[in-house]
Amino acid sequence: MDKQKLIMLPGPTNVSDRVMKAMLNPIINHRGDAFRELYKGVLDRTRHLFQTEGEVVVLTSSGTGGVEAAVENLVRPGDAVIVPVFGEFSTRLAEAVEIAGGKAVRVSSDFGTAPTLDQLKAAMGAQGNFKAMFLVHNETSTGVAIPYVEEATRLARAHGAFAVIDAISSLGGYAIPVDKWGVDVCITGSQKCIAAPPGLALLSISDRVVEFLKKSPPKTRYFELPRYLEYGSRGETPFTPALPLYYALDEALKELLEEGFAKRVQRHDRMSEMLYGGLADLGLKAVAEKSVRSKTVLATYYPQGVDDAGFRKALAHDKDVVIAGGFGPFKGKVFRVGCMGQINEAYVRRTLKAIGETMASFRSS
Ligand SMILES: Cc1ncc(COP(=O)(O)O)c(C=O)c1O
Repeated sequence: MDKQKLIMLPGPTNVSDRVMKAMLNPIINHRGDAFRELYKGVLDRTRHLFQTEGEVVVLTSSGTGGVEAAVENLVRPGDAVIVPVFGEFSTRLAEAVEIAGGKAVRVSSDFGTAPTLDQLKAAMGAQGNFKAMFLVHNETSTGVAIPYVEEATRLARAHGAFAVIDAISSLGGYAIPVDKWGVDVCITGSQKCIAAPPGLALLSISDRVVEFLKKSPPKTRYFELPRYLEYGSRGETPFTPALPLYYALDEALKELLEEGFAKRVQRHDRMSEMLYGGLADLGLKAVAEKSVRSKTVLATYYPQGVDDAGFRKALAHDKDVVIAGGFGPFKGKVFRVGCMGQINEAYVRRTLKAIGETMASFRSS
């Protein structure tokens, strides 16, 4: 087996021993009392994460399943849906809307930038009537975070539309208080800022969405949210849950709440500042402008001539630090560092040192 490396990917990320060990809990009947107790605890803690009194659901699926659940439950054939598109994950989101038969109204900006709030406002005004806005908060592919989630949510609601936020790579590192902001569905994944293993998607669901689904049941079985809500009310999931992952998620959420949500968010602030500063000191340029740069995913340009695959391989092999490459137009030109979950000063220092030393050897070779 590979020795444990420092995982500085934009997910999955480092998981504590405490959380890993939780997966050794016994297999139990998922229709029995022990699971009901476990799942009710998970749902309570998930409510804290989303800062909601409303409904939440945990799906046995990666984040993509969570996004698909939101799309399939809300979008009906012919529905217009506003989708800011500024990277790979927002592109996929627009495609998911189209697969569901919706009309994706793309509000696009170049990869590495974000559409402005004015652009979004104009697109909503021009469209007039639309079913929902689906907004990726943090474009993991480019290291760009939308600074106006609350305002965008308000705008969508003022048009009578649902506001759906993909916060897969941000919630936990950022706070998205869904009740306060009026977010209808917020989606996150277990493997990012929550610092649990990959494999679970967490969703908050507003009362408005619950009411809508009563009148207009979705055409999906595995992701049929009303079914999850019905089963969830008695501490069960409709289909067999990935039990060890639920144990792990429960433990990871306990860790998060023991630290305190606000403190965890501040830690992400501090660690990302330190990482951006350290990378700049190495003479490396961030992809995103400061006003939209993400504090959970840092995308950074390589200096001219540094080979992406070779650099990342050397970093992983010689320094035991694992980072990610670029996506789409940034492939080969950019590397990405995750600043998520367990991130701390020691990890940041080790990562910066490893990048600095490896970059120096690539520059001189
Ligand atoms: C913003 C965003 N949306 C969706 C996804 C897809 O999640 P998953 O790979 O867990 O299916 C990711 C994964 O990185 C993401 O960062």
